[in-house]
Amino acid sequence: MPEPLPILRIGHPVLLQRALPAGDAGDLGLQELLEAMLATMHDASGLGLAAPQVGRSVRAIVLLPLIARDQPTEEVAPLVLLDPELELDGLPPVLGVEGCLSIPELRGLVPRARTLRWRARDRAGRPIAGAAEGLTARILQHEVDHLDGILFPMRMTDLALLATADQAAHLLALLPPPERGPAPPGMPE
Ligand code: NI
Repeated sequence: MPEPLPILRIGHPVLLQRALPAGDAGDLGLQELLEAMLATMHDASGLGLAAPQVGRSVRAIVLLPLIARDQPTEEVAPLVLLDPELELDGLPPVLGVEGCLSIPELRGLVPRARTLRWRARDRAGRPIAGAAEGLTARILQHEVDHLDGILFPMRMTDLALLATADQAAHLLALLPPPERGPAPPGMPE
C-alpha cells in the first residue's frame, strides 16, 4: 500500500475549487492517486476522502461501504467513484453529525437528503450506479461537495450546531432518536 498523503486543512484554496473531471481511467497517474487516497483514508480512519483533500483537484472520491445498520466496516472493499453525480430525493433534509479530515476536531449538525441515487465511473472507467440512504447517503453528499469546493460548515444553516469532537455528544442529544443511529456518528470523513 502506498504511503498516505498529507491532508489539506480548511483554509487551503484547493478545498474551495470546483474540481475537474477525473479523465482517462487508464491514466497511471490517476490510478496511483486512487491508491494513495485509499491509503490516506485508511491511515486517517476516515469514512471517505475526496481528491481535493490531498491537493488534487479532480472529481474522484473513495469511501468505505457501510453495511448492516449503517455500521462502517473495513471488511468490504472500499468504493472508488470517478465523476460521481447525485440525484437527491427532493424531500426535506435531515440533520446528522458530520466531521471532516480537513477540519480536524470539529463536528457539526448538517442538513442532508436522507436518500439519493448516484451514478459514476468505477476505477476502470465503467459506468456504475446505485442508491444510498442514511449515513452512506450523507457521506456521498459530503464527498461530492468536496468536488464542488464545499465544506460541511458551508452547508450548515445554524452555526450554533458546531462543536469540538469532545462536545459532540451535545449535538447528538439534539437529534430525534431515529437519526442518532446505533454508533456514534461524527467520525471523520
Ligand atoms: Ni470532508
